[in-house]
Amino acid sequence: MNISKNWFLDEFKQIGKDYADQSEVDVYESSHAQFRDIYQESIDLLKTLNPSQEDKLIDFGCGTGIFAIESAKVCNKVYAVDISTEMLHYAQKKATQIDIHNIEFCHSGFLNFEIEDNSVNYITTTFSFHHLPDYWKGIALNRMYNMLKPRGILYIKDVVISEKNSLVNIQNFIDAQTEMGGDFLKEDAEIHFKEEFSTYDWILEGLVSRSGFKITSKKVELGLIAAYICIKE
Ligand SMILES: C[S@@+](CC[C@H](N)C(=O)[O-])C[C@H]1O[C@@H](n2cnc3c(N)ncnc32)[C@H](O)[C@@H]1O
Repeated sequence: MNISKNWFLDEFKQIGKDYADQSEVDVYESSHAQFRDIYQESIDLLKTLNPSQEDKLIDFGCGTGIFAIESAKVCNKVYAVDISTEMLHYAQKKATQIDIHNIEFCHSGFLNFEIEDNSVNYITTTFSFHHLPDYWKGIALNRMYNMLKPRGILYIKDVVISEKNSLVNIQNFIDAQTEMGGDFLKEDAEIHFKEEFSTYDWILEGLVSRSGFKITSKKVELGLIAAYICIKE
């Protein structure tokens, strides 16, 4: 059956924090450096995933491109996908400056990016999947399942809510962000829970499993940040 995309969620509309705003893009890395080391996270993740020189990887919601660029150093080809052209330009400029040419920067998203089925070895997405409401997360997971080769790996890291003590955990998180980054990170965190679509761990895990993935590893910090390694069975 031909499914029209007329009634699909418009994923190009920024939800919550506006990453199409150049001033947000310009301060993204410095503001995040107050509470995370994106470069070290990227190196650690690549050590865990251990891709080879023949592998293809898609990074959805690539943002400023730190992970995409590090991946491109060890993979055959990287697709850096984002709905923000401002983020893509920022990332592309950095890649060009250091002579990295095996990244295809794609102005697209979880629900629109097109690639041949069974064609990539890895799909990663960090702190981006929560931009989709749950129904659309399910659709996106089915699409990502189809893109991956058999035994391909999906890595999702995001704000994912453990049910126990959720309100207290969220308030503690907002307070900690405020301590580290003042009003900017406070507002960042508040907008996240007020306007974006982070969901319960059991919902996300149900969606992942029902899409055909097996979750082989789950790491949780503060009852609020979860990282999943999932394999296409
Ligand atoms: C919080 S940033 C994360 C950037 C980077 N992955 C990181 O870990 O720092 C979220 C990114 O997801 C992008 N984004 C939002 N909705 C998206 C969608 N439906 N498909 C792809 N990217 C999306 C935003 O434009 C933004 O660049």
